Amino acid sequence: MLRPSLTNKIVEGDVREVLRRLSPDDTFDCVITSPPYFQLREYTGLEAEIGTEETIQEYLDALITTFELIHNRLKSTGSLWVNLGDTFDDGQPQCIPWTFMIYMLETWQLRNIVIWDKPDAMAESGKRRFSQKYEPFFWFTKTDDYYFNFEAATIPCKRSTVERLENEFNAGKGTDVSRMRGMLGDMSHKVEQYLQGGVNAGDVWTIATNKEHVEHIAPYPIELIVRPIVATCPPKGIVFDPFVGSGTTPLGVLKVGGNRKFFGVDINHDAVVQASLRVEDELKQGTLF
Ligand SMILES: C[S@@+](CC[C@H](N)C(=O)[O-])C[C@H]1O[C@@H](n2cnc3c(N)ncnc32)[C@H](O)[C@@H]1O
Repeated sequence: MLRPSLTNKIVEGDVREVLRRLSPDDTFDCVITSPPYFQLREYTGLEAEIGTEETIQEYLDALITTFELIHNRLKSTGSLWVNLGDTFDDGQPQCIPWTFMIYMLETWQLRNIVIWDKPDAMAESGKRRFSQKYEPFFWFTKTDDYYFNFEAATIPCKRSTVERLENEFNAGKGTDVSRMRGMLGDMSHKVEQYLQGGVNAGDVWTIATNKEHVEHIAPYPIELIVRPIVATCPPKGIVFDPFVGSGTTPLGVLKVGGNRKFFGVDINHDAVVQASLRVEDELKQGTLF
């Protein structure tokens, strides 16, 4: 259980220090976050700020230490979602997300590498390589006994898929009885799923980047995190964002509802103020969607 004073709160500080100060009883159901990318921005000038290390190894060590501390605070049924982009050096991707993922495998169980497909990502100006239009979004769990509400996170089956199956069935009618039976079985299963509201969302999620202007911070779109919240945080559970930035994760938690709670940390004073104001506004006005 998280102490009541820590639920629905955003606090300022180095997340490693904040985690070390929590009581042993403070635990999370789910963690969703986007850490600062390597040498992309400087938010505070503080030494403890992650992302400003001199080498990739130092940066990865800082991230791995943070996620080890989080591992101790996550329930055994819990999930961790990490959106991490790469850095290019001299026109070459540094493969930081993939190196990070391999380090994480020593402690965590990897469930999915979701590809966040960004249809509106800016084309790069150079002509020596293809523009990068995706980022990985890693889903880790602590154990095999993880909470997963699959049904809550399905997507509607495309009408065109149902129509195609119907056409295939009609075209094959009377020509091959066993093939027809197979298709009938397949079709009725798919139609049933369609009528019930959904099929597996898959691991490529096409979501436009965040158009909201948030000064100095790189927010992810709220649509990216709604599915992880619904699928991997039970109602009344608590979602933690160790790099809460402008407060997108808390806003997602409020949007999803179900009496879920949030806890967020950021080292940047301005980010904490901004996130707190966005959350306050939402609680007052219910402006989301
Ligand atoms: C990519 S931004 C997060 C953006 C956030 N997902 C959103 O939607 O607004 C990364 C954040 O990590 C914070 N940060 C960097 N080092 C930190 C540390 N040691 N402890 C806590 N937060 C840190 C930065 O201040 C920044 O706000």
